[in-house]
Amino acid sequence: MAGELTDIPQSLLERAREEALAAGLTLSHDEGGFYLTDGALLVRGDFMRMRSRIKQNALNRELLVKAARIKGIAAPLSIFDATAGLGEDSFLLAAAGHNVVLCERNPVIAILLVSAIEQARQTPELSETAARMKAEYADGVQSLRDLESAPDVVLLDPMFPERRKSAAVKKKLQLLQRIEMPCDDEQGLLEAAFAAGPRKIIVKRPAKGPYLAERKPDYSLAGKAIRFDCYSLPR
Ligand SMILES: C[S@@+](CC[C@H](N)C(=O)[O-])C[C@H]1O[C@@H](n2cnc3c(N)ncnc32)[C@H](O)[C@@H]1O
Repeated sequence: MAGELTDIPQSLLERAREEALAAGLTLSHDEGGFYLTDGALLVRGDFMRMRSRIKQNALNRELLVKAARIKGIAAPLSIFDATAGLGEDSFLLAAAGHNVVLCERNPVIAILLVSAIEQARQTPELSETAARMKAEYADGVQSLRDLESAPDVVLLDPMFPERRKSAAVKKKLQLLQRIEMPCDDEQGLLEAAFAAGPRKIIVKRPAKGPYLAERKPDYSLAGKAIRFDCYSLPR
């Protein structure tokens, strides 16, 4: 069947389909990979639409790419994205040459993510970047605790509760928000990131949002809508 992905376990697929159905949605696939739909709108992971952002000049201007720089340590860094979503932030980091492990706990989103990476691996202009991305279906807090060696960077972008209410949220993203849970344990997530012993933790927040778990960062890089709070750790 077109778009069939051999590396997605059947048990995960069944669980994801049930979860989508419970939210009144359908998880399906075509030649472009897996997608989620309510019959009218359709959402899928799609790194192709980000290709203008990974051209070298554009990439160097990305706040997240700047936030991931560590003085005296050259790329490739090892990066652990504990709240992967559809992997767009991690895609920018992988395009900058870093090796990224992406952890997603929602079965539907995990499948959309794996599918998007698989599609990108088969696309010549994206394949090199996609080869540096490895997705896991797991809870980020537990995975951070289980890491055998400390990554250079941990990236956290738990859904900010107010995003759910925002009228500015694109209609397609509202589909995802029907299945995605806002972060219920900010403290646990940030503590697990610190305990994993990275050189740096980067937390993505709305530009005017509060600090994650109310912990003040060492510095922030802020754009119009988004802010990256950075915590530097000694090693
Ligand atoms: C705002 S989205 C991340 C978007 C992502 N930064 C991107 O660029 O596409 C947050 C995601 O984190 C996931 N998430 C929240 N808590 C998690 C946890 N403890 N472990 C793994 N994933 C988690 C949610 O299911 C959701 O898909």
